[in-house]
Amino acid sequence: MEVILVETGQEGALLAAHLIARQVRLRPDSVLGLATGATPIPIYAELVRMHREEGLSFRRVSTFNLDEYVGLASDHPASYRRYMQEHLFGRVDLAPERTHVPDGLAQDIPACCARYEEQIRMAGGVDLQLLGLGQDGHIGFNEPSSSLASRTRLKTLTPHTVAANRPGFPPGEAVPRHVLTMGIGTIMEARRCLLVAFGARKASAVARMVEGPLTAMVPASILQMHPCATILVDEAAGRRLRMRRYYLDVYRRKPDWQKE
Ligand code: GLP
Repeated sequence: MEVILVETGQEGALLAAHLIARQVRLRPDSVLGLATGATPIPIYAELVRMHREEGLSFRRVSTFNLDEYVGLASDHPASYRRYMQEHLFGRVDLAPERTHVPDGLAQDIPACCARYEEQIRMAGGVDLQLLGLGQDGHIGFNEPSSSLASRTRLKTLTPHTVAANRPGFPPGEAVPRHVLTMGIGTIMEARRCLLVAFGARKASAVARMVEGPLTAMVPASILQMHPCATILVDEAAGRRLRMRRYYLDVYRRKPDWQKE
């Protein structure tokens, strides 16, 4: 597990975008796993800038999003398909048919989830999976107590996550309790995981993910078992890490070629 501490979230977002862009330049037909939430917004903004100003092309890239709310149409203002359309898909040269978000309106949910897994396999697996972090340590919508071997499936949100995600919904509208999410086992098959967490409200989850015991109560702690996981945090999110000086030192001493 590599822990990169940067001063600010903005700096972290630029670095995350740089790592994603590097993956796309190295392999133009990369398969990217994508995340939603507030944290990735400046990352997508930087990728859009690179597309417009530096010729970064997503023409041959495929994408798979982590999750979606059940019952929301793709054009609902809080749907993750709409979020992706607004922040990335609609602003770069991604082929629409190669962008995948679980279908929140699927009639047959188990079949839809099985198909999502199959589509990931058919695409050759995820090269780089971008992850955010829930304040309770969730990744995707895998809430605490999720099976660490889980696959894409229906989950029920905790009241805590419902409250945390309410700002994304129009006033007065209920947040769905059900979601579809890639499983933890699905996420762990990505060849590289890049988790980003910024801000003081993530500090406890970051410390438990990196330095706590591996437990289903902190789903992100499974990344301790991933052969290539990068955890990118800002000062505020990293302030409860006991070994933060060591992580800073490791990164400072890294040869440039290894920083990528
Ligand atoms: C939601 C998403 C997660 C995301 C989390 C944190 O629950 N399903 O993928 O990581 O929110 O979001 P934020 O970045 O807004 O804190």
